[in-house]
Amino acid sequence: MLTLAVLISGTGSNLRALLEAASHPDFPARVVAVGADRDADGLAHAEEFGIPTFTVPYSAYPTREAWGEELAEQLDAWQPDLIVLSGLMRLLPAAVVARYAPRIVNTHPAYLPEFPGAHGVRDALAAGAEQTGASVIVVDDGVDSGPILAQERVAVLPGDTEATLHERIKPVERRLLIDVVERIATGDLVL
Ligand code: GAR
Repeated sequence: MLTLAVLISGTGSNLRALLEAASHPDFPARVVAVGADRDADGLAHAEEFGIPTFTVPYSAYPTREAWGEELAEQLDAWQPDLIVLSGLMRLLPAAVVARYAPRIVNTHPAYLPEFPGAHGVRDALAAGAEQTGASVIVVDDGVDSGPILAQERVAVLPGDTEATLHERIKPVERRLLIDVVERIATGDLVL
């Protein structure tokens, strides 16, 4: 059974999908803890599923590195096999990436390497792209630059706003993320 620690910043809708998948007895992975860099709404999903949560508030630390040290300490307590960034809107410090690499995966709402960074959906719209997508990658030291594990195209429709496009991308992200976690857990996909 693969154990997962999931890190979020926001509403945690992708986290919720993962929690639902992992609650099926046949699913080969379990979420052991959910952490956040702020008082994220999505922590409520974990609580509903009886999963322990922790918060390491980014704003409470003088540097990203200091924040990362505390985050790593919290993660270590759960000894996760895999860390899933599911809407964590912070770059992990290099020391944290090095500590767990390649066992950190990230979901991103664009077809990487197109539109990396914090505003993948907004940037695709601003560029006038006719299609964008969703990607699941291995986290490395760069910004959304690690090896791509899965990705799929999503069309940009006339009249799309950032919100409508993001809402169409998220179900694709969820499907890809759950599939990647399952394939890692079964050994189909080796990091
Ligand atoms: C997701 O679309 C995720 O890919 C994105 O934040 C959203 C979180 O939604 N992450 C990034 O943009 C990271 N660069 P959720 O909180 O509803 O799961």
